[in-house]
Parts: sequence; structure tokens; C-alpha cells
Amino acid sequence: MTYIAPSILSADFNQLGKDIMMINESEADFIHCDIMDGVFVPNISFGIPIVEHVKRIATKPLDVHLMIIDPDKYIEEFSKAGASWLTVHYETCPHLHRTVNYIKEQGVKASVCLNPHTPVSVLENIISEIDMVLLMSVNPGFGGQEFIPLTVRKVKELKKMIRDYNPGCLIEVDGGVNYETGKMLIDAGTDVLVAGSFVFKSDDPADTIARLKRM
Ligand code: DX5
Ligand code: ZN
Repeated sequence: MTYIAPSILSADFNQLGKDIMMINESEADFIHCDIMDGVFVPNISFGIPIVEHVKRIATKPLDVHLMIIDPDKYIEEFSKAGASWLTVHYETCPHLHRTVNYIKEQGVKASVCLNPHTPVSVLENIISEIDMVLLMSVNPGFGGQEFIPLTVRKVKELKKMIRDYNPGCLIEVDGGVNYETGKMLIDAGTDVLVAGSFVFKSDDPADTIARLKRM
């Protein structure tokens, strides 16, 4: 079964509550929250107060993607704000083992993200400790970018590593997901599809979520 995580980065922030209700009533599995600091990535999105507001009305677990430098500083606050999953970037964590354990100490699922240029092999010594790997299929920072096809090969390679060392670990892919790229990713072994613009720019977002899930 594929899990679907709509990214609210592409939601209408003038009516965020309405968009969260749409996700609540849809077949989505998680609500993906993109946190950008304008330093690690060339864009600023939203922070802890918005996550708290989303949490108040969300009936699905919050999947919080931290695109920020020094994420350790904010892990406790995002956990308290209601994150069920916290993803940190490999590229921002010099002491990744410590960071992953810190996330788990908060009672939150720990996930590690790789940028498109970062090879899957860097996860060899951490894969047994984590609950999910997030593979970026675009350079992080913006919604609506074009899918990088190399990601499909990375999913296959990661799947092998997961089979050997931690079969319960999920693979999530983020960026440029639509019916076509989503199908390739699922066939390669992806468990969770993040979709932002494809869901929110469609005529019927709830139906798009349902169709992605059924692929
Ligand atoms: C990109 C974010 C994504 C973004 C995906 O930096 O991490 O979650 O919302 O947007 P789409 O699905 O439009 O590529
Ligand atoms: Zn994301």
C-alpha cells in the first residue's frame, strides 16, 4: 500500500483550515509540512506557530520536513508542536546519529533526507536506526519543480539496503510527483509519495489524492 503525504506548501494559505479539512476527509495518510530557513535552502516557508495551528485541526499525522541548518536546536519545539515524523537533512547534520536519537527521545519517528546529489550509500551506518528515508527528487526549496529521474535508481538501491538492514524502514520521495513519476516510484519500491502542486493545483485535490493512492 502506498501512503500519500500532501505538502501544504502548495495549499492556499488564505484558507489553510479549509485545505487541512480537505486532507482530513481525503484518503491522505500524512500532512507534509515543509520548513525552510532561507539559509540551507533559497526560500523561507513557515515555522512552529503554523505547525501548531495545523495540528489543532489535523486528524492525520504531521510529517515535518526540516530544511534548516542546525535542526537540533528546534527538534524539541517541533515535537511539542505536534510532529509525528521529523525529517532532517543528511547535509545539515554533522552528528547525525546523535540527532536521530534525539528525535526518537521526543517520542517522534526519525527520518533522514538526502538531496538529489547525495548518494544512498551515506546511509549505510545509520539505516538500522531510522524509521524512514526521504529522497529528494528535486532540489529542495520550492514546489512545482521538475522531477529528477535519477531518483528512481536511488529508490531501488535504497530498497536493497533496507531489505538487508532494516525492513521496517519506509522510503518517501518528495518533489515533482504526479501520476507518471508516482507510478515509476511505486514500482521501484517507494512507500510514501509527497505531492504538493500536483494535488493542490488540481481541480479536485481529494480525488487526486485518492488516485495517487490507488496507483
Ligand atoms: C520542496 C519540498 C516539497 C514540495 C514538493 O523543497 O520539500 O515537499 O512541497 O512540491 P511539488 O510536489 O510541487 O514538487
Ligand atoms: Zn518536503
